[in-house]
Amino acid sequence: MKLFLAVFCLLSVVASAYCSLIASGASLRSTTALNIRSGPCTSNGIVTSVGAGTTLKFTGSVQSGCGYTWYGVEVNGKRGHAASNFLTEVNNGGGGGSNTGASISVDALRRIMPNLSSSKANQYIGYLNSALAAGNINTCCRKSAFLAQLAHESGDLNWFVEFASGAAYEGRKDLGNIYPGDGVRYKGRGPIQITGRANYRAAGQALGIDLENNPTRAADPDVGFRTAVWFWNSRSLNQYADQCNQSGFDITTRRINGGYNGKADRDAHWTRGKSVLGC
Ligand SMILES: *[C@@H]1O[C@H](CO)[C@@H](O)[C@H](O)[C@H]1NC(C)=O
Ligand SMILES: *[C@@H]1O[C@H](CO)[C@@H](O)[C@H](O)[C@H]1NC(C)=O
Repeated sequence: MKLFLAVFCLLSVVASAYCSLIASGASLRSTTALNIRSGPCTSNGIVTSVGAGTTLKFTGSVQSGCGYTWYGVEVNGKRGHAASNFLTEVNNGGGGGSNTGASISVDALRRIMPNLSSSKANQYIGYLNSALAAGNINTCCRKSAFLAQLAHESGDLNWFVEFASGAAYEGRKDLGNIYPGDGVRYKGRGPIQITGRANYRAAGQALGIDLENNPTRAADPDVGFRTAVWFWNSRSLNQYADQCNQSGFDITTRRINGGYNGKADRDAHWTRGKSVLGC
């Protein structure tokens, strides 16, 4: 099929859009302000609009309509179709993906988190990048702070369930643990280790998933990265990450941890992230 497409591409200008050979899940960038439509034609309704330079995820769909070729795209948690003329593929070489906007490449992620295996990084990268985009974690300063906190909380994305039983949280009304067993039921899960009935309920409501009744879902990567971003934004942490200095980063540590547990490890990941991503 790829060979067929390649030959077809060389012979046909009209068909060039079918020749993108872009992998599903790849990052695209808008070259101008752009409307994302519900179907592959300008007569379809606008699902959302993006500015120039926005990173979008390619869903794998390619369709023609109204004189354009339309790529299926996902951005800000919304899916639709965008005219391919106004999209460029973000450089996909050397470790998969780019580090612009809300995306991070597997290569950069693994340099920031040396204990993350290549297979896990490749398994998580799509969930992570979708969550970063949905949460506007889209600058070097934001990504390096966010990833440093995740790295510490999950041991470089290796542990999505807290080691302790959770019994220590029993009866913690400040966490919404008001029923017997809540401490264990709502122990830390996901890459940022959300904890407590109140957080599971609020995250679930925000994401449209009933986490209060299905708490273990928070440990699955498709949900976990979204709960991490939900937590980050529910505490308005982008604004402290934007300071891009130690005092701003310390505030993110305190809001996540309640204190400065693991400060040296968080700081080391943060410093490495800024250096890898260039800020
Ligand atoms: C990686 O794991 C090893 C062994 O658990 C640990 O000693 C080391 O500190 C970890 N490295 C990072 C960067 O977290
Ligand atoms: C950190 O950055 C913020 C925002 O630019 C600034 O107001 C604050 O003074 C800085 N803190 C230090 C210790 O430099």
